Amino acid sequence: MTILTVTTQPIEGQKPGTSGLRKKTRVFMTTHFVENFVHAILTAIGGAAEKTFVLGGDGRYFSPQVAQVILRMCAAAGAAKVIVGRDALLSTPAASHLIRLNKTDGGFIMSASHNPGGIEEDFGLKFNMPNGGPAPESVTDAIFEATTTISEYRILEAHDVDLSTIGESSLGDMKVEVVDPVTDYANLMETLFDFPKLRAMFAAGFRMRFDAMCAITGPYATEILERRLGAPTGTVVNGTPLPDFGGMHPDPNPTWAKDLMDVMFAPDGPDFGAASDGDGDRNMVVGKATYVSPSDSLAVLAANAHLAPGYRGGIAGVARSMPTSAAADRVAEALGVEAYETPTGWKFFGNLLDAGKVTLCGEESFGTGSNHVREKDGLWAVLLWLNVLAERGQTVAEILTEHWARFGRNYYSRHDYEALPIDQANAIVENLRARLPDLPGTVVEGLTVATADDFAYTDPVDGSVSEHQGLRVTFTEGSRFVIRLSGTGTEGATLRLYLERYVHGPDGLGDVVQQALSPIIKAADSLAGIKAATGRQGPDVVT
Ligand code: G1P
Ligand code: ZN
Repeated sequence: MTILTVTTQPIEGQKPGTSGLRKKTRVFMTTHFVENFVHAILTAIGGAAEKTFVLGGDGRYFSPQVAQVILRMCAAAGAAKVIVGRDALLSTPAASHLIRLNKTDGGFIMSASHNPGGIEEDFGLKFNMPNGGPAPESVTDAIFEATTTISEYRILEAHDVDLSTIGESSLGDMKVEVVDPVTDYANLMETLFDFPKLRAMFAAGFRMRFDAMCAITGPYATEILERRLGAPTGTVVNGTPLPDFGGMHPDPNPTWAKDLMDVMFAPDGPDFGAASDGDGDRNMVVGKATYVSPSDSLAVLAANAHLAPGYRGGIAGVARSMPTSAAADRVAEALGVEAYETPTGWKFFGNLLDAGKVTLCGEESFGTGSNHVREKDGLWAVLLWLNVLAERGQTVAEILTEHWARFGRNYYSRHDYEALPIDQANAIVENLRARLPDLPGTVVEGLTVATADDFAYTDPVDGSVSEHQGLRVTFTEGSRFVIRLSGTGTEGATLRLYLERYVHGPDGLGDVVQQALSPIIKAADSLAGIKAATGRQGPDVVT
């Protein structure tokens, strides 16, 4: 087989965002686009010679073609072996696990996570490091740099590798091992959770609905919940991964997983509900008529993790992204362990996990995970919740009520303004940033500003500094708002407004989150002028 050297030139816009490179699928389909980016990855990691990688993704449209390109370019670069999930499928947490389990040199994940899929929707590609976690900024910066100087790439001239059959084959001098995408991951879950106890709970009539949203977790959830744990057939719905996710928006939140919410809030609703996103790293958990906010979910899991076999010894610490509510911090304080506040994006948790400083991590964006992999993990969170429910023998509502009574409650919501003109979104952020130094002490809509800053993070492990990670304004009574621009969108700019209000103990505010937050919503709008600048009446998505 011949290695072709193909002349190319830099393509604009290949800068990885919060989680890899995401673009419209049609952009990925343009000439040399994938090849240039893969070449840049291989350059940034110091080449592929003698290395072993993992390859897989959420099965979205165009993945089969991209998988073949990655294989041929790895072969041309002298890689020893690529381990591929059958049909190029792997959930993001399963890919992270395979990278670690096989002690490989990293992996390629084809996914745009919760963004819709299809020829008119989104595609994405990211590289994870040998620790199983997303490439840190030093590497993504190097990847971007390489995309701006590329003049040629190398690729093997070969037929497509058959990825539908488990087993080993060769591509030039490189080995390709096709593995079952689910088995190793399911085995890992069995080591962390009390499967016999969960089996008994399902056998006793516990009812659950898992909405895989026609995305990658279908096969994983079916194997684990229905086969290994004996949940009734039909517990998993929308369980077959489709290239366009059946036209759904595979984002597990009350807006996009509305079907699940309706079922859970119906009079005869199941005991427990969950959904996950395109690539299986996000989760939403819902009790009977009880929505659990992701920030609260992290806090409840941190307080109860010791009930699951994998965490019996307790947790070392907990980390959350800065915009995530401080609910988990209060649990950490009670447990006497460290709480860390990082910028948005899972890549910032990697060092803390590797150094053993934290066991659990979470983000307000429906992401929770632990040190078992280096990605957030949707099914893992669902299983930990199930384990907690089985041990405590209480409902989700009872657990939340007790949690708030003990730790107080962080009312929390995120308001997204989507597809804004980029200049307009930048102007909102710039204007507020310029005013930050003058804000402390001023009174806005009856609230007094305590602090106002532009969040910068110094990694406690390697000392690297990440600046401009979100504008945050806190008020004297413990409320705050945060504003930042999304780094994962593919159309215009998305402005995210995060709102939080802490109330100590049983509060009398009831369960009306937006109402509880209304003073902060008013203050944020008055300071940032989002409605005036955008001409919008309100956010597009509220979570
Ligand atoms: C969003 C979430 C962030 C998450 C990322 C990848 O990024 O806000 O917490 O890590 O998706 O799932 P953003 O679009 O805000 O940059
Ligand atoms: Zn995802």
